[in-house]
Amino acid sequence: MIRKTYQEQLQTWDKEYLWHPFTQMQDYLKETPLIIEEGQGINLRDADGKEYIDGISSMWCNLHGHRKKEIDDAIKQQLDKIAHTTLLGPSNIPAIELAKSLVEIAPKGLTRVFYSDNGSTANEVALKMAFQYWQHNGLKDKTQFVALQYGYHGDTIGTMSVGGIDIYHKVFQPLYFKTHLAPAPYCYRCLLEKQAENCSMACLEELENILKNHAAQIAAMIMEPLVQGAGGMIIHPTGYLSGVRALCRKYNVLLILDEVLTGFGRTGKMFACLHEDVAPDIMALSKGINGGYMPLAATLATEEIYNAFLGNYAELKTFFHGHTYTGNPLGCAAALASLELFKKERILENLESKINHLQTNLKRFELLEHVGEVRQRGLIAAIELVKDKTTKEPYPWEERIGIQVCLEARKQGLLIRPLGHIIVIMPPLSIKNIELDRMLDIIYKSLVVVLP
Ligand SMILES: Cc1ncc(COP(=O)(O)O)c(C=O)c1O
Repeated sequence: MIRKTYQEQLQTWDKEYLWHPFTQMQDYLKETPLIIEEGQGINLRDADGKEYIDGISSMWCNLHGHRKKEIDDAIKQQLDKIAHTTLLGPSNIPAIELAKSLVEIAPKGLTRVFYSDNGSTANEVALKMAFQYWQHNGLKDKTQFVALQYGYHGDTIGTMSVGGIDIYHKVFQPLYFKTHLAPAPYCYRCLLEKQAENCSMACLEELENILKNHAAQIAAMIMEPLVQGAGGMIIHPTGYLSGVRALCRKYNVLLILDEVLTGFGRTGKMFACLHEDVAPDIMALSKGINGGYMPLAATLATEEIYNAFLGNYAELKTFFHGHTYTGNPLGCAAALASLELFKKERILENLESKINHLQTNLKRFELLEHVGEVRQRGLIAAIELVKDKTTKEPYPWEERIGIQVCLEARKQGLLIRPLGHIIVIMPPLSIKNIELDRMLDIIYKSLVVVLP
């Protein structure tokens, strides 16, 4: 714990010098900054010594808890050899070993690993790969993309071009390339005004219309499989993903799956697409790739896509993309240790009972007056708050309802972050049932305090 006076100094500097991401700083400046100093397991400790459950896995990335010995040791050992060396030219040992390990666990057909350092770049790489693939294959009109409404793939101009969240993306509209937005399968608020029970997935028909009419211009479809995260933890109905896969094949369009959030066990399987036996042409990974320890990302592609970039030096078929910290040895060493933990601790096998426990204990939330829907997939859950349960009228953005609930939870020792009026639950996979109970108790009490 740091000295009180120094802590106050840090709080002042935080407000004076920092600009926090996705944060309205005018509001932030009115609050006392929460400064995290340490972590252990699923807990975080602030500079005051107060503990919080890390209920959103430090922004959806931590898997095994904080200060996990095996990952700490792997990084320290790598540090004794080298911290960073470039992949532009030479290679490095952890990057090679990790590429092999990723291909071994990846959906069938993904055989090549291209590294970068965050989720946005993993998707940016995917989009550029898809685009250039068709340029080399002679279908030069394939320059457009299809994406889902409420989709989120990052904050670079390219990934925002395929984004579907108006609140984040609309202001940058003039900068975007051409993207067709298909309706998200958001059954609670069906964009096509159907009822989930008897709609036979009309949203897939809408997607088919887009693909049918523009197949000659569309390079790829990009989507988050099974769970659309930042768009509100929208859980797709079973069969939607395999339906998309079939349509992409039918219309000669590449399928990019953004598993940045869903990858590495979050949904109960190593990758979400495995629930429907789907293999994409390109897959983007980051966040949990090394247990949420440090920036690392990978874009996996098929041999067919890789081969399309081979040619004589002068042909300029090279994939001209690369970041300074691409394939960073420390990040890759941490990732190898994380994958080892999946085997050693039988993480995927043990997840099922936690997922069931979460499901059972979420039931009581449905009875609350202002809870419109509780949804869950794996160890990801969301509670959608509504002003009126019958009409599903949402809370106005200005009421900051989600923020209020999360601030109350913080007082009670839980760190979570909402998506507007949606409360997100995404603890590290290592959470125990008893800790899950504590976390849900705090959320329940916070809802009762804020929405009596
Ligand atoms: C599905 C998905 N893709 C991409 C990203 C962007 O990742 P990053 O914040 O590392 O750029 C995120 C981040 O939340 C995400 O949830």
